Amino acid sequence: MNPDISLQLLGGLTAREFMRDYWQKKPLLVRQAIPGFESPISPDELAGLALEEEIESRLVIEHGERPWELRRGPFAEDAFAELPERDWTLLVQAVDQFVPEVAELIEQFKFLPKWRIDDVMVSFAAPGGGVGPHFDNYDVFLLQGYGTRRWQVGQVCDSNSPMLQHADLKILAEFVKTEEWVLEPGDMLYLPPLLAHCGTAEDDCMTYSVGFRAPSAAEVLTHFTDFLGQFLPDEERYSDADAQPTSDPTQIQRDALDRLKALLTEHMSDERLLMTWFGQFMTEPRYPELIAGIEIDEEAFLASLEDGAVMIRNPSARMAWSEVGEDLVLFASGQSRLLSASLRELLKLVCAADALHIDNLAPWLADDEGRNLLVELVKQGSLEFSDE
Ligand code: SIN
Ligand code: CO
Repeated sequence: MNPDISLQLLGGLTAREFMRDYWQKKPLLVRQAIPGFESPISPDELAGLALEEEIESRLVIEHGERPWELRRGPFAEDAFAELPERDWTLLVQAVDQFVPEVAELIEQFKFLPKWRIDDVMVSFAAPGGGVGPHFDNYDVFLLQGYGTRRWQVGQVCDSNSPMLQHADLKILAEFVKTEEWVLEPGDMLYLPPLLAHCGTAEDDCMTYSVGFRAPSAAEVLTHFTDFLGQFLPDEERYSDADAQPTSDPTQIQRDALDRLKALLTEHMSDERLLMTWFGQFMTEPRYPELIAGIEIDEEAFLASLEDGAVMIRNPSARMAWSEVGEDLVLFASGQSRLLSASLRELLKLVCAADALHIDNLAPWLADDEGRNLLVELVKQGSLEFSDE
């Protein structure tokens, strides 16, 4: 997409301007980011999702005496009937994986890498409901879907910011309001990481949170070094050929540190392995149990496509592709495959297309490597035949 086109979603800013001035920096309120936006699911449907075993949901209830009670789903059918008239919120995670109309919202954010997107969380709140003042480590776009919500933003926080004593919820002990807005359906608020915020429902209200993800520095270091370790033979060790005789054998000399640094740098700067690890890590599915492959051979696969079958990306699968040297690599649900450069258009199609069928796949079905890749992705479960 052209980064210099003004976008309604960003209040008339271009993607380039938004990235330069707001992304990861400061909040942006957009009135009518999606004009006429109507919540694709109703409060009852959201409550229905919260009954499902495989869906993460939680209820936050603000009581008078013991504030901020957290209940975790899945919930029993009568759980909602007992709730008070006001001051509670139901939050359901990753609704995009279960409701295609909610997944479509993600299409609006094509100016950002898809692998940075975590999920679309949907919340329903009774009047007065909210999860309390808090901060998140991630960027989020809060799109109002139904009813009105008052959003307040405050100070920039970090892991030293004082929190209320609460075993399950992270609620700031102190909230210094700097700005506030009341959002109507279609309005959207972008918040950068670490900014304190607090949303309170003015009436029955639904909010769609398009949440982003970024691995922590600790995750990058521990996971990448674990990954690297698998490729290093046991005999490759700290070595000190040409070392000088010691003057004091009990001292660890500075030159040992230099040798260690050289060893680390050599491996840490292996771009091929770094890209491979990163792609695998960032495409690991949130719910691996929902990526169930099927047994299928090439013949049956081709026959289905010829019969008009349509393949879609498994809504729980994450996919991305990249260049590694002269080759390409496809990452699908935490696995990677090295492929020839001639498959570039196929990889783009597989990662981005809503539907794959005999017409758009035709050029690739005659190619051994391309055909093989498609069959493997169906076997692995990242691609699946659609029922419709
Ligand atoms: C909500 O939708 O109620 C909470 C979203 C958030 O503040 O992170
Ligand atoms: Co938040």
